[in-house]
Amino acid sequence: MHASPVITVEALQHAFGTGEARAQVLFDLDLTLRRGELVVMKGASGSGKTTLLTLLACLRRVQQGRVDVLGTSVETADEAQRVRLRRRMGFIFQAHNLHPALSAIQNVRLGLELHGGELTQPWQEAAAHALDMVGLRDRHGYLPKNLSGGQKQRVAVARALVGNPDLVFADEPTAALDAEAGGRVLDLFEALALERGTTLLVVTHDQRVIDRASRVVTLADGRIVDDRTRTPQS
Ligand SMILES: Nc1ncnc2c1ncn2[C@@H]1O[C@H](COP(=O)(O)OP(=O)(O)OP(=O)(O)O)[C@@H](O)[C@H]1O
Ligand SMILES: [Mg+2]
Repeated sequence: MHASPVITVEALQHAFGTGEARAQVLFDLDLTLRRGELVVMKGASGSGKTTLLTLLACLRRVQQGRVDVLGTSVETADEAQRVRLRRRMGFIFQAHNLHPALSAIQNVRLGLELHGGELTQPWQEAAAHALDMVGLRDRHGYLPKNLSGGQKQRVAVARALVGNPDLVFADEPTAALDAEAGGRVLDLFEALALERGTTLLVVTHDQRVIDRASRVVTLADGRIVDDRTRTPQS
């Protein structure tokens, strides 16, 4: 028996540019992601991973094909519906996009404001807990400029997870992390998938992440060339 699908992609195509400069980067993609899956997406540079991620995350318009996310048809959704969908998602991108004038804990709080909804805890408590979970208990008041690259990356992880999203999209979230910090982030990802049924789609070449994924999808030249469900080796 399968868990219910949270993302369904059918015959998705995507191209950049027009006329002679038009370059198609995604070809006829079909993909179904289910509740509680920790999915790694890998593939050569330029194979279309980030493009696909941003389409699924409603950060880019669908040109052709069907994308259904959390029961909403993204290609026909209006801006209000897209905003509502994004509130149920967490994003961790290559550039961490931390606000330079805000401390670590205030940056994490932004993740709660984006998610809106009812807070079961006061925001300080939720944001502090999220920072503690990524190993930054002693860095709550630090500005991004006073944090290392790996610490900034972990603030971005805390910000993405603090609102208990149904879906998490991450682009190389462990690239700047050492074994311990990377392991913590992976523990968090696994716990979310297992305990909350969160679906995580993680673009990475990090073998540590691949080893703990429940499924590995490989893109090559804008097509899915391999898709295997596997037993994590943790
Ligand atoms: N805004 C854009 N305009 C034109 N071409 C683009 C744009 N964004 C991406 N591309 C092209 O689309 C292709 C896929 O890019 P994408 O960023 O999805 O690759 P990727 O698999 O994420 O690569 P990487 O591993 O290097 O991050 C590349 O050839 C890229 O040059
Ligand atoms: Mg990319």
